[in-house]
Amino acid sequence: MTVTKTYNTTDLVNKDKAHMLHPVSNLAQLREHGPLVMCKGEDVFLWDTDGKKYIDAFAGLWNINVGHGRAELADAAAEQMREVAFVPNFFGLNSPPTIELSAKLAEMMPGHLNHFQFTSGGAESNETAIKMARYYWSVQGKSDKVKVLSRLMGYHGIAMGALAATGIPGYWEHFGPRAEGFLHLTPPYDYRHGADMTEEQFVDKLVAELEETIKTEGADTIAAFIGEPVQGAGGLVVPPQSYWQRVSEVLKKHDILMIHDEVITGFGRTGTMFGMQQYGVTPDIASFAKGITSGYIPLGGVAVSDEIFNVMSGIDKPFMHGFTYSGHPVATAVALRNIKIIEDENLPANAGIQGEYMLNELKKLYDKPYVGNVRGKGLMMLVEYVSDKATKAKFDPAQKVGPKLEATTRKRGIIVRATPDGVAMAPPLTIQKPEVDTVVSALADAMDEVFGGL
Ligand SMILES: Cc1ncc(COP(=O)(O)O)c(C=O)c1O
Repeated sequence: MTVTKTYNTTDLVNKDKAHMLHPVSNLAQLREHGPLVMCKGEDVFLWDTDGKKYIDAFAGLWNINVGHGRAELADAAAEQMREVAFVPNFFGLNSPPTIELSAKLAEMMPGHLNHFQFTSGGAESNETAIKMARYYWSVQGKSDKVKVLSRLMGYHGIAMGALAATGIPGYWEHFGPRAEGFLHLTPPYDYRHGADMTEEQFVDKLVAELEETIKTEGADTIAAFIGEPVQGAGGLVVPPQSYWQRVSEVLKKHDILMIHDEVITGFGRTGTMFGMQQYGVTPDIASFAKGITSGYIPLGGVAVSDEIFNVMSGIDKPFMHGFTYSGHPVATAVALRNIKIIEDENLPANAGIQGEYMLNELKKLYDKPYVGNVRGKGLMMLVEYVSDKATKAKFDPAQKVGPKLEATTRKRGIIVRATPDGVAMAPPLTIQKPEVDTVVSALADAMDEVFGGL
């Protein structure tokens, strides 16, 4: 495979610099240096417009689960566009693939999660999940049950409602007042919050904080707790095995809904089809996006329990929430085909096998002086670096470790996400051992270069 089309990289970069506002990016840097322009993808590989080949060790944005270049997904989209490109889900309309997808998801999701509303992405899904939780209580006469508990380091998207649930202060700055009623708890991040404790003691501490918060705020003011089964963008936090079970018991006891944000963990990434299955719990509501179409077309959605569905569908007036593209038939047709690939190729199992292998290889980096913590679940993992292992001190942001690692890893032909504190990886679920080895050794060399030169 090579790049067959011809591109003028300089012209593209100049146009980008002149016209683009990139999301969650340093705009000053981009204005000066411009982007890296990718024009071709196949399986775990990407090519830039100059023909250089990379391993996409971040699967786009945690979402290219089946790998790049799947012609079946292009065919599914084209076939549906030829039949009918768009039918809304508003005012009693629907289309065959959207209906079939809801039935398929009901089959796939654990327990009582049998009812769905679709969206175009993760933030819209979490907005929907939070509004459904509030609606569920409000229509039952409990209109004070509105607060939402989430965790620091949690990432739930950055539209205004989802942003309030997101627990990463860097995303709040400069955007004015946040929506009220969102409280952030300690994440189950043992490296920094549970050191010197047994797993049980750490979970006890987190559960005690949850109980205390519920007592202070009043259970009758709290609608829901939202959390990613494994936290992703905020720093990849893998909770202790008993955490979700214990949290779920407390929430049930206090009549607080549990929302799982499966936007990254859904559709195989952790080694099971959904992240919740790693922990043996079933939430009342689950949001999803990304892997449902492997990023080939935008789609997200929310699953709710039979109980919530029965309450919502027992109200004889409109549920006033949704989006133009809720249930877009082209997106749902692609999702059905994508799920078939995930199932036929048993990709969750490969994510489990390759993820365990990759994590063990990455743990070999512990002998380097700046590697503080290596953690992950399935094919989502992070190497956290520190300037001092004993004190766990972080690098000074002025040292620009993140941008330097981004540049150095790209020079070595791997795409990873380098933040000021760590390198996150989440390759397509199709990755095999030779590519895992390439990623780990390129990362090790890049880290040596960057940290050796500080
Ligand atoms: C767990 C989680 N929830 C929600 C979102 C937001 O999704 P989107 O960017 O599609 O709005 C993300 C995006 O990375 C995510 O990781």
